[in-house]
Amino acid sequence: MGLLEKKVALVTGGSSGIGRAAAQIMAREGARVVVADIAQAGGEEIAALIRGNGREAVFIRADMAEAGEVEALIRRTVALYGRLDCALNNAGIPGDVAATADCTLENWERVMRVNLFGVWYCMKYEIPQMLKSGGGAIVNTSSISGLHGVRHQAAYSASKHGVIGLTKTAALEYGKAGIRVNALCPGWTISGMTQKREVHDVDPAFLSNYAVGRAGTPEEVAESAVWLCSDRASFVNGHALIVDGGRMAL
Ligand SMILES: NC(=O)c1ccc[n+]([C@@H]2O[C@H](COP(=O)([O-])OP(=O)(O)OC[C@H]3O[C@@H](n4cnc5c(N)ncnc54)[C@H](O)[C@@H]3O)[C@@H](O)[C@H]2O)c1
Repeated sequence: MGLLEKKVALVTGGSSGIGRAAAQIMAREGARVVVADIAQAGGEEIAALIRGNGREAVFIRADMAEAGEVEALIRRTVALYGRLDCALNNAGIPGDVAATADCTLENWERVMRVNLFGVWYCMKYEIPQMLKSGGGAIVNTSSISGLHGVRHQAAYSASKHGVIGLTKTAALEYGKAGIRVNALCPGWTISGMTQKREVHDVDPAFLSNYAVGRAGTPEEVAESAVWLCSDRASFVNGHALIVDGGRMAL
């Protein structure tokens, strides 16, 4: 019996990295999976891969920065599979690397719209569906950057702090209705985001702060997200789970 047997799960940012790994693990654990992303090719590929393994998955293109697209995504998910049990609201962007006063208005707005507004849009439309079916589990991808300051990434760090505030607030509001809401706080993880650009090159000592001496894999991080989505985590609510190889133990 899989961790998510008979559940319908949505993963945003599912075309790459942590979301892609989570979609595969969710399917392996028995869920029917909706992969949502702006990146069409990667999303179609992962959905096809899951179907090729005999599981159910579909890709739906949606921009998390657009409330209307998120609403339509949730509507289509429920039209397709009849319900929504688990959501990993995970799409995110790092934004530009610049000191706080040098962060452009465009960068600030884009990072906030995807990372913070996007997570709120997701919860805004997911929660009513979960209430209709008697409950659910939401995991919002924050970051350890949501727990400490990050030189030269003010918008990113602020957006990820915001995700934790949103998460705790919704957890307080919907716990009695059977919806658990948790945040995931990964440390440095090898993914599209960290490979495309050296977001950490401002701090050459970066890896030396990781107790395990290495970055995480998307699968290692995704496993924790899937567990949080599952009934095995039934008493975990309003929590910001650090998955960082010991970085925050410092
Ligand atoms: N990689 C890390 O070191 C790390 C650490 C902490 C937190 N995170 C967070 O994990 C999450 C996943 O990132 P990742 O590391 O897997 O990176 P990634 O770049 O591999 O994946 C992010 C995905 O989000 C999608 N996306 C971006 N903007 C979108 C939008 N507007 N609408 C829909 N989809 C969009 C991208 O197309 C991509 O497929 C992000 O929220 C990121 O901030 C990553």
